[in-house]
Amino acid sequence: MTHGEPNPLESPVGAGRRFPPSAEFTAQANAHPELQAWAAADRLGFWADQARQLLSWGTDFTEVLDWSAAPVAHWFGDGRLNACYNAVDRHVEAGHGDRVALHFEGEPGDTRTITYAELQREVSRAANALVALGVQTGDRVAIYLPMIPEAVIAMLACARIGAVHSVVFGGFSAEALRTRIADAQAVLVITADGGFRRGSATALKPAVDEAVGSPAGAVGPVDGADHRGTTARNVLVVRRTGQDIAWTPGRDVWWHEALEAASDVHEPVLVGSEHPLFILYTSGTTGKPKGIFHTTGGYLTQCAYTHLNVFDLKAETDVFWCTADVGWVTGHSYVVYGPLVNGATQVIYEGTPDTPTKGRWWDIVSKYGVTILYTAPTAIRTCMKWGEDIPGGYDLSSLRLLGSVGEPINPEAWTWYRRVIGGDRTPVVDTWWQTETGAIMISPLPGISSGKPGSAQTPLPGIAADVVDEEAHPVANGSGGYLVLTEPWPAMLRGIWGDPQRYADTYWSRFPGIYFAGDGAKKDADGDIWLLGRVDDVMNVSGHRLSTTEIESALVSHPMVAEAAVVGASDETTGQAVVAFVILRAEYLDRADEIGEGADVAATLRAHVTKEIGPIAKPRTILVVNELPKTRSGKIMRRLLRDVAEHRTVGDVTTLADSSVMDLISEGLHTPPPT
Ligand code: WTA
Repeated sequence: MTHGEPNPLESPVGAGRRFPPSAEFTAQANAHPELQAWAAADRLGFWADQARQLLSWGTDFTEVLDWSAAPVAHWFGDGRLNACYNAVDRHVEAGHGDRVALHFEGEPGDTRTITYAELQREVSRAANALVALGVQTGDRVAIYLPMIPEAVIAMLACARIGAVHSVVFGGFSAEALRTRIADAQAVLVITADGGFRRGSATALKPAVDEAVGSPAGAVGPVDGADHRGTTARNVLVVRRTGQDIAWTPGRDVWWHEALEAASDVHEPVLVGSEHPLFILYTSGTTGKPKGIFHTTGGYLTQCAYTHLNVFDLKAETDVFWCTADVGWVTGHSYVVYGPLVNGATQVIYEGTPDTPTKGRWWDIVSKYGVTILYTAPTAIRTCMKWGEDIPGGYDLSSLRLLGSVGEPINPEAWTWYRRVIGGDRTPVVDTWWQTETGAIMISPLPGISSGKPGSAQTPLPGIAADVVDEEAHPVANGSGGYLVLTEPWPAMLRGIWGDPQRYADTYWSRFPGIYFAGDGAKKDADGDIWLLGRVDDVMNVSGHRLSTTEIESALVSHPMVAEAAVVGASDETTGQAVVAFVILRAEYLDRADEIGEGADVAATLRAHVTKEIGPIAKPRTILVVNELPKTRSGKIMRRLLRDVAEHRTVGDVTTLADSSVMDLISEGLHTPPPT
């Protein structure tokens, strides 16, 4: 194990409390106890049935899984389908055109209701507009948008023509956007003038201008080298805020003008089941984000299957709300593909939970009669902090199921969520999965499982997961180890874009032949799985994955910084928080002394990280130190820095090259941390 991991043998708090499903819930539940036996008896047959029941195929498949090119899987390989047709058109054809697909709530209070029939027309226009801009099947398109309907429409329009979308979260910086455009060699960027956040209009277009940075119409080199974002020929701009923006004629095109000019009829392009659907960049253990890519048939099958069974979706009556941004995988699988393939009605909301008041989410739940809510533990803990009087002031009786994702949910937050938000009546599903897994892998099944606060419980029917020791042997109940996936699954990533070797090394080399998720886990006495956090250099801040190395690289790219070490320290609200230890270059040291507590240094470096990566990566605390604890081989011992950051007694220092370093660091911390 590497430094900084939680101790997988620590016994989880609150184990033992059970919340059996009510008889009423069980009676109407989608998930049936036979699912497990069926999948166990014939796993591939089970998935083939799911694929055929849940999706519409243009050409049926004859082979379920081809694992001969492991670790790259082919699911339903000779089948052909279109993701957008499955998410939109077929519902209209089935007579559900008037069903609401999206209830959009803008942060300023503007709203839009989009039915499936309207969505079909909008997506068709957008697809035609993309084609008019020269986007072809297989081309990559970067999407950098706020949480507005156009984000969903843009993704579906790409899928409709077989172009591969690469959504970049709107909170990422120009620099982060640039590297993602360049890595995927995107030919088009879809963005907006801006969006609304915390009561004001924020800008997006300037970041795109900086990232693309090319003369109008230029087509960049295609050698894979770092060539700014110049592969993007055009920028398609949604008008959201109406603010003034710079305009590059010939390159920039207004979304509304392009769509107005386009026909609202478009024939979806059938693609092979293994045709790439999207790339989504995520943080790994090294500085360079990984372009995780997913393909079509297997991904959609598992999204639809999990959305139906884990959330017990009833398309006719439920109102589903997943609070994730489409910039993350949760937004891909449970805002766009899962719910729409299942023909659900859902809510999307542009802004933050506390604008204009801390009751905004609960206002939305009661306004739209949300029945299923899916969010992250960090949001739940924030609401706990604000107090239960706030949700208590709203009618939340429409809710019938609650979900959690993104990080381990502590039993206190789980029970609060169920009691205060779920009125002591709703099942709570704690769903474990990753960008790489594409869809939910481990979760209780509502109506079947007895809820166990803090535990994601069991692999879903059709999924093979285990907890193993260093030698890949499954651990006994009551013991901890590493979470692994022992059989390929339909929604699994097909690789890291452009880097097959890194894919094999990252996920398949720790335990040859099985997928290593990077998480520590424990099996309790019942064999239920408890997730215990990452065992690598990946942090989880507010449910967002951040790489310690990536933030360290950003810090040392500032001329002031000689060396940096970043750790994720536990934080009551955000799960973990970024704490950075930096050594300044000699020429800046005098200045740092002048500044006293180093507050300006911290502010400068926080701004720098925001510029390099984005506000989500900005350190909560920056500590200026003279030394960093290193082993004799020069490896920074982040474990010790975590002890300091979490105000613990510093652990074993015997492997340090210079054991007095930790005393110096601890002493330096008596002054209040500059934040
Ligand atoms: C963590 C988000 C505990 C885990 C869907 C995983 C969780 C990483 C849970 C993936 C959960 C996600 N309990 N930990 N229910 N869900 N994680 O790629 O460390 O943004 O490896 O995908 O989040 O984060 P990602």
